[in-house]
Amino acid sequence: MRVRSPAKLNLFLRVGRRRDDGYHDLISWFCSVGLCDSIEFDPVATSTITLRCDTPAIPCDQRNLIVKAADLLRQRCPTPHRGVDIHLHKKIPSGGGLGGGSSNAAVALRALARMWECDLNEDQLRELAIRLGSDVPFFLALPSAICRGRGERMSPFPPPNAAALLLMPSIAMPTADVYRQFDEMRLGSDLERCEHVLPDPRLPAEDLLPRLINDLEAPAFAISPELRRLRAETEQRLGRPVRMTGSGSTLFTLYDELAEANAAAARLARFSQLRVGAFALGVGAN
Ligand code: C5P
Repeated sequence: MRVRSPAKLNLFLRVGRRRDDGYHDLISWFCSVGLCDSIEFDPVATSTITLRCDTPAIPCDQRNLIVKAADLLRQRCPTPHRGVDIHLHKKIPSGGGLGGGSSNAAVALRALARMWECDLNEDQLRELAIRLGSDVPFFLALPSAICRGRGERMSPFPPPNAAALLLMPSIAMPTADVYRQFDEMRLGSDLERCEHVLPDPRLPAEDLLPRLINDLEAPAFAISPELRRLRAETEQRLGRPVRMTGSGSTLFTLYDELAEANAAAARLARFSQLRVGAFALGVGAN
């Protein structure tokens, strides 16, 4: 079984104050984007779980969220002799705020639950997903949703009628560091008020972009002034607002048509050594 594992953008991300458990409540418009890893799952006769990846920098042991997802699922529905051979083909950069690891984990939960015939409903899968990470539940609710709480409370929301240009600098932004900086800067939005300013997904890209706010930009740019400079420079080059996804470092902007996004990506690639690409929004896992 081969499954597509798409990246996400946080088109809109408002973050509240730190909670007693150390996490932050948020309201975020998550949307999948057509930059995808692909994962093959092959049943095996033994009870071993093995993961291989074509990118050497990706750990394939217990640190990998796919292995954690498989282990968690086996604990939840124990039956002997459940093993699997997994092959991960990686396209989504790590540490870029695109949710690649979280997407892989959610795809693995769903695929293995089916392969191992675990009788779990969506609520039960979601409970496992949030234990793996705050962004994991969204990838069970593709292609687009508003996520609240830590990310586990999801309502479907239409994807915008747009395509995304992504600029993926090789700056790794550890999520926990960005949240720590957010706390040090004493930031925190009033989330009840943010509920009233959710962007309208039907707007054309030009009108939508100024309404897309990410509260993690200020702390991420405080950690990496280089990223702040890159955003300003890209906005100037493209003549439109550019935003950051999640805790960074990927930057994005939107166009009404994929052809426009492709043309802008080609223009940008002439000036920059960084990885640039144009992708459809709102893709599913298959
Ligand atoms: O849940 P996940 O493991 O992806 O979170 C990584 C880190 O990001 C957490 O340890 C926490 O410091 C921070 N975080 C947060 N509030 C969230 C999501 C993540 O403070 N809603």
